[in-house]
Amino acid sequence: MTELDRKQDRTPVPKEWTYAPAPESRDIVALDERYGHFVGGKWLEPSVTYTTISPATEEPLAEVGQATPEEVEAAVAAARDAFENGWSGISAAERAKYLFRIARILQERSREFAVLESLNGGKPIKESRDVDLPLAAAHFFYYAGWADKLEYAFPNRRPRPVGVAGQIIPWNFPLLMLSWKIAPALAAGNTVVLKPAETTPLSALLFADVLRQAELPPGVVNIVTGDGRTGAALVKSKGVDKIAFTGSTEVGKAIQRELAGTGKKLTLELGGKAANIIFDDAALDQAVEGIVNGIYFNQGHVCCAGSRLLVQESIYEPVVEKLKRRLTTLRVGDPLDKNTDVGAINSKQQLEKIRELVEAGEQEGAEIYQPPCRLPEKGYWFVPTVFTNVAQSYRIAQEEIFGPVLSVLTFRTPEEAVEKANNTPYGLSAGVWTEKGSRILWMAEHLRAGVVWANTFNRFDPSSPFGGYKESGFGREGGRHGLEPYLAFDKSALP
Ligand code: NAI
Ligand code: MG
Repeated sequence: MTELDRKQDRTPVPKEWTYAPAPESRDIVALDERYGHFVGGKWLEPSVTYTTISPATEEPLAEVGQATPEEVEAAVAAARDAFENGWSGISAAERAKYLFRIARILQERSREFAVLESLNGGKPIKESRDVDLPLAAAHFFYYAGWADKLEYAFPNRRPRPVGVAGQIIPWNFPLLMLSWKIAPALAAGNTVVLKPAETTPLSALLFADVLRQAELPPGVVNIVTGDGRTGAALVKSKGVDKIAFTGSTEVGKAIQRELAGTGKKLTLELGGKAANIIFDDAALDQAVEGIVNGIYFNQGHVCCAGSRLLVQESIYEPVVEKLKRRLTTLRVGDPLDKNTDVGAINSKQQLEKIRELVEAGEQEGAEIYQPPCRLPEKGYWFVPTVFTNVAQSYRIAQEEIFGPVLSVLTFRTPEEAVEKANNTPYGLSAGVWTEKGSRILWMAEHLRAGVVWANTFNRFDPSSPFGGYKESGFGREGGRHGLEPYLAFDKSALP
């Protein structure tokens, strides 16, 4: 009889977890009916527009531009002009000043941005408020500090800016990914054309107002909205010196093919299928919280999500039982409600992809568990899901689902855990839960993953480099490493 079995009758589990609604007010955000492209410090009237919605209610929020190749070229030309006639010439300390200002303004306006991020993207307000916004501001603060210290970051290598950076970002952390891209690019002395994802353009458009407040010179940051066609035009543009992309492996590969032989610099941050590995000596209750945070944070729309749970065989039963019980307490619903744990799926398209893979999991023979859960009628929703009885060959163990769906597998020895964890085309992140420090170090050495978390998961810090191996991409963002893709080095310099 396991410890859990014995305790079961005596563990007081409330029958119901009802919370009164605690919605964050929307009034703090004033949306325009229609947005243009932010080019050369001005709003450029778009020739084509589309409607951006709230995925939680399908309510239209605003009209935004679908930038044509000509509009993209106008943005690139503005960035080039700003680079050559001002930005690359001003002192590094002056550049830092703008970055510090942006960081401070983001902090001051964080509530407004958090509400908008949840409204347009579907993520719970407690995550946009406590994770996205503080980290976005922290990235600007961090890179502001590096702007006048590049010579120290890269001693004897004579760093200089690359020029115009084209940056394409996804919809899972819209403002945070904007910060990851823009902060190091500006700190290194580049100018930028940024394209947010088509489903989540609004926080980037509001960010243009932060730039106005910070009095950033016109053209240093340009923002064009639109879908993959706009992104492809930015990649193709002859005026761009560097492309930074975060998104699907499929599009990442297409961009790499397009840029082969052009001499443009490229960094790719792509998908993942991370293993979260629980050893039998781990603190189980903490591990269960880490599993939940690893896969249900941001509805599982996380490239480094711990989507494959590897549990040591001897503790399989208590872990799965605790996990299922914990799932029944997750609150799914209104992203703007402060009690919500799991918000809306970002788009109809993403919901369809999740459904398709979950169906495949059931057909291939995995056992599905979903807690009882009443979903809102409108909008895009998916119940937090756990699959047990998963074989490594199943699609749900191989493919990135990018939703609140966990696949549970088992292992016996550390060697087997490493072999299974590495049995994926991806290599972005991993988690290890054990009391033994030596085992953590051994695992970290053997796991082919850019980030290995120990006794925690989904932790981010601007000073810590992030990026992948294999089909998860190349190049690092964050830390001193994150500056390098935005710098060129004198050939004559050492080494
Ligand atoms: P996607 O890769 O198509 O979109 C990401 C960004 O790339 C968006 O801004 C999009 O407009 C742009 N884009 C699309 N096609 C492009 C092209 N040909 N050239 C240049 N830019 C282009 O990702 P999507 O379709 O939104 O999601 C599909 C799957 O990709 C997800 O289910 C998930 O598995 C994965 N994904 C991974 C992300 C990550 O953080 N690593 C982020 C988003 C999606
Ligand atoms: Mg796509």
